[in-house]
Amino acid sequence: MISSIWSKPDHLPTALAESASAVDQLIDKLLAMPDGPEARVYEAMRYSAQAPGKRLRPFLVLASASLFGVSLTSALQVAAAIEMVHTYSLIHDDLPAMDDSDLRRGRPTCHKVYDDATAILAGDGLLTMAFEVLADADTHGDPAVRCELVSYMAKCAGPAGMVGGQMIDLQAEHDSSLDIGAITRLQRLKTGALIAFSCEAGAILGKASAETRKLLHAYAHDIGLAFQIADDLLDAEGTEAETGKSVARDAEAGKATFVSILGLDGAKTQARALVDQALGHLDSFGPPAELLRQVAHFVIQRRS
Ligand code: IPE
Ligand code: IPE
Ligand code: MG
Ligand code: MG
Ligand code: MG
Repeated sequence: MISSIWSKPDHLPTALAESASAVDQLIDKLLAMPDGPEARVYEAMRYSAQAPGKRLRPFLVLASASLFGVSLTSALQVAAAIEMVHTYSLIHDDLPAMDDSDLRRGRPTCHKVYDDATAILAGDGLLTMAFEVLADADTHGDPAVRCELVSYMAKCAGPAGMVGGQMIDLQAEHDSSLDIGAITRLQRLKTGALIAFSCEAGAILGKASAETRKLLHAYAHDIGLAFQIADDLLDAEGTEAETGKSVARDAEAGKATFVSILGLDGAKTQARALVDQALGHLDSFGPPAELLRQVAHFVIQRRS
């Protein structure tokens, strides 16, 4: 059972650290280096995937799976897969053709250490391998569940999800007419979709009812937006030392964000309202959802 990995299930920092350590071990195993010259792409994949990120999405997978009695092996497979997809999205996001960022997770970005072509391939490698992991028999005994995970991950990561959001985000650099509705949609796709996958994965693995899955979807929607507002605030107010990544990129690019539209105080008020709304969706889960409640607060209190 998953709860066995959390030595203090009511203490979010411990639970986050324990889940990160378990998922990092699995990623280390999955990205074992081969002997041939293709080892370079594995090295670049490992460089980015093993850098110290928050591992928030894996944690959401484990915390949601723990509500439905899912095995730790199953949940960790999905947790590793979503972190691989997320890391791919960061590697490509940092490329000169996109945000042109030099710092990520406290280290020089993948393309700075290797080169643009290797960084593109490292991202491609992480994305495709994630689907191999989801389709693996270790992920779930029922092939229909594996198929559902593959299909939903494709939807959330692809043009109807993260990739679509990144496309609109690039256009937001040249379009000052974006209003709050358009920014909300952009962020829901860009960031919200992978967070939705993470929160709903537990329900898919545990074959929960459609109504239960809908509650987790609604929770994910709200924390996903709150998370991105916090990201925009950190870009505006945070430092590179705190966040471990390049900051002030949004204003420099003239990008429309929650902060550019609502202002700093308005964005903070909106983020708090979203967290309250997210908590409301967890009422029927009772005490077992305590970590999901705490993580809702964490997404806006974090400094990195
Ligand atoms: C950063 O995500 C990119 C966004 C979607 C805003 P995280 O803030 O989760 O990055 P890591 O994984 O901790 O590095
Ligand atoms: C990128 O959003 C979200 C992804 C899909 C990778 P940002 O460009 O705001 O992310 P950071 O601030 O570079 O982490
Ligand atoms: Mg970006
Ligand atoms: Mg960026
Ligand atoms: Mg950002």
